[in-house]
Amino acid sequence: MASELIYRGHESQPLSDEYSPKPHKPWLSVTRPIRYLLLEQRLIFVLVGIAIATIFFTVVPSSRTSYTREYDPVPIPYFEHESTQWSHRPKYDYRLAVHSGGKVPLGIKRKGLRIVVTGGAGFVGSHLVDRLIARGDSVIVVDNFFTGRKENVMHHFGNPRFDLIRHDVVEPLLLEVDQIYHLACPASPVHYKFNPVKTIKTNVVGTLNMLGLAKRVGARFLLTSTSEVYGDPLQHPQKETYWGNVNPIGGYHFFLPLSHLVVIVSGDRNLATLHSLLSGSQRRISGVRSCYDEGKRTAETLTMDYHRGAGVEVRIARIFNTYGPRMCLDDGRVVSNFVAQALRKEPLTVYGDGKQTRSFQYVSDLVEGLIRLMEGEHVGPFNLGNPGEFTMLELAKVVQETIDPDAKIEYRPNTEDDPHKRKPDISRAKELLGWEPKVDLHKGLPLMVSDFRQRIFGDHKEASS
Ligand SMILES: NC(=O)c1ccc[n+]([C@@H]2O[C@H](COP(=O)([O-])OP(=O)(O)OC[C@H]3O[C@@H](n4cnc5c(N)ncnc54)[C@H](O)[C@@H]3O)[C@@H](O)[C@H]2O)c1
Repeated sequence: MASELIYRGHESQPLSDEYSPKPHKPWLSVTRPIRYLLLEQRLIFVLVGIAIATIFFTVVPSSRTSYTREYDPVPIPYFEHESTQWSHRPKYDYRLAVHSGGKVPLGIKRKGLRIVVTGGAGFVGSHLVDRLIARGDSVIVVDNFFTGRKENVMHHFGNPRFDLIRHDVVEPLLLEVDQIYHLACPASPVHYKFNPVKTIKTNVVGTLNMLGLAKRVGARFLLTSTSEVYGDPLQHPQKETYWGNVNPIGGYHFFLPLSHLVVIVSGDRNLATLHSLLSGSQRRISGVRSCYDEGKRTAETLTMDYHRGAGVEVRIARIFNTYGPRMCLDDGRVVSNFVAQALRKEPLTVYGDGKQTRSFQYVSDLVEGLIRLMEGEHVGPFNLGNPGEFTMLELAKVVQETIDPDAKIEYRPNTEDDPHKRKPDISRAKELLGWEPKVDLHKGLPLMVSDFRQRIFGDHKEASS
């Protein structure tokens, strides 16, 4: 029988390699991960991980700096870098940056600011720079080195977040920054009386230039004014609302010979001046403090005018007597004078009867106050000082106790423009900035003494021998 070809194409014949998708099962996408988690106790591991992370972020402080926290008033160790100051190798103290409270997860760091510190190579400025660098900011120091020293900031050389510009603030300067701490101005009478016109210029033209910069780049501006704006105060202690008692003319002009004495007298204290003159201490007296006092008063006025008129964000601090390491050795300020004299075995010079009072603030307290003011919401002015009041004789006693119990006291006639009393009322700073000084004289003075000893004698061994 002949073979027959039969067409079977119409019959459906499944091909062996044909792809047949499995029916869609939507519940699988949910059940599969759950099944995966439940296998081999993986879920328990995940839960334990979450618990550990929660405990870690709750207990361990984050790297963000918070300025409302309680601060550690113990200053950054000075001799760490000063003993190796010629090595040019930076040694940073990151304590403040790391242990600074706040509960932000790691990785979300506070953004570093770009900050100018004018006068940053000086006494207060250099301590401020240390704190700003330690908390992670970039700092540009602008200084003409009139009273400042490179040694005060040398330990930051080599740090990419630190710059130093030799510049006089009386000349304009353009920089892109977020904040300006304006400290540039000699602060001790010896220095600011050296060239009174330059002192006024620094305070007026220098402040104008820095305010102009703040306006141009939208930076926040902080002025370091002074308790000297209160002059020889008629109110005690001094509140920020007190307008002060400053003599702009300065002094009393005596035209010799004494037999034809013509005196321009204003105020009770001038009678004492006249008396001392007639009793033999003939000298020309002039209230040359006014270049500083009135300079700072004008700087405050300019600051407020830029705030009201040009919308610049400003802050004003009125600083009272501050002491600490890196003060100029022979600048005529009473604490540095006494400490240097006691170390050199010279008598401590007390002017007048030694009963005039001052308050003494340790520098780390001031720096904390300045930073709180800058970061806070209030313009000020704020008194920043230690309200503990000491007479000059009491201060001399603390210096004797700290350095040399046998140190002698030598009395000299008082300078006539020396205010009788100074003591800050710091209620406003306490209330609005949550700030008050923590370091008292007995604790702060030894810290300053070791710095002075090293600078006067070169090293500790030499000093003790
Ligand atoms: N230390 C205090 O007890 C005290 C008290 C009241 C106010 N203040 C104010 O605090 C600020 C700092 O005082 P300090 O004790 O550190 O004084 P300081 O003399 O040690 O520092 C002042 C710094 O400003 C610099 N400077 C001066 N004139 C300048 C200019 N024209 N251009 C650029 N830089 C200039 C100096 O070289 C120095 O580095 C000053 O404004 C001062 O008036 C200080």
